[in-house]
Amino acid sequence: MFKKFRKNDNRQPQCDTLDLQHIPEHIAIIMDGNGRWAKQRKMPRIKGHFQGMETIKAITREVSTLGVKYLTLYAFSTENWSRPQEEINYIMGLPVNFLNTFLPELIEKNVKVETIGFVDELPTKTIQAIEEAKLKTADNTGLTLIFAINYGGRAEIMHGIQNAIKHFKHASESEIEQLTEKDFSRFLMTADFPDPDLLIRTSGEQRISNFLIWQLSYSEFIFNEKMWPEFDAEDLQACIKTYQSRQRRFGGL
Ligand code: FPP
Repeated sequence: MFKKFRKNDNRQPQCDTLDLQHIPEHIAIIMDGNGRWAKQRKMPRIKGHFQGMETIKAITREVSTLGVKYLTLYAFSTENWSRPQEEINYIMGLPVNFLNTFLPELIEKNVKVETIGFVDELPTKTIQAIEEAKLKTADNTGLTLIFAINYGGRAEIMHGIQNAIKHFKHASESEIEQLTEKDFSRFLMTADFPDPDLLIRTSGEQRISNFLIWQLSYSEFIFNEKMWPEFDAEDLQACIKTYQSRQRRFGGL
């Protein structure tokens, strides 16, 4: 089964079909470029974040239609607290706005909302909106939409190590030596989700910025030049097409 897609980025392969049998199960996105998009238009940075939220809706619709099972979005990092307080306040209000305007559609599309990150450190109104969305979508079985919010990969691993030490404090030396990567993965915030198949970062930056540093070990990386507020369904399809043209070997031949 093939779906037509129109190409609008000449860095992507010259191909006009998307193989719906090989859609990545899990896509992770670093939504970068909100501030620059706004600045280019002589608007305040927060306008970029607002428009970025609208892009989240469009991309969620698209991945849900394509049959992607997990979409993880880097919404706020543990390092983002160093931004101006006004910008932080605005970003913290966005989940409230997003869920007020989009939760009925998420429910209708059978989308389950999840988070990774230190959510309990967020403002109360943000926590309430997220908790309500999680509760109302808990039984949904379609796309799982995971917001990484107050998330950092190193902090996640440290937190996982602390919990593992507490859990195994009575274990023998040989039991500890037999622990596997899979055993440790259960102590990460992503314990319930598979590793991403595809990482997309917008805005042309080529870094992972402390995002899912354990889980991205074997993911395909695609860096797209567009700013996140202008990234659209066609761009996403082009990224998936590029992903489909790559051979994943997981260290083998
Ligand atoms: C990166 O752009 C974007 C962010 C740090 C925030 C992204 C947050 C949202 C799009 C909204 C989150 C909404 C929900 C529903 C949780 P940047 O500001 O670093 O852009 P720049 O690199 O151009 O300055």
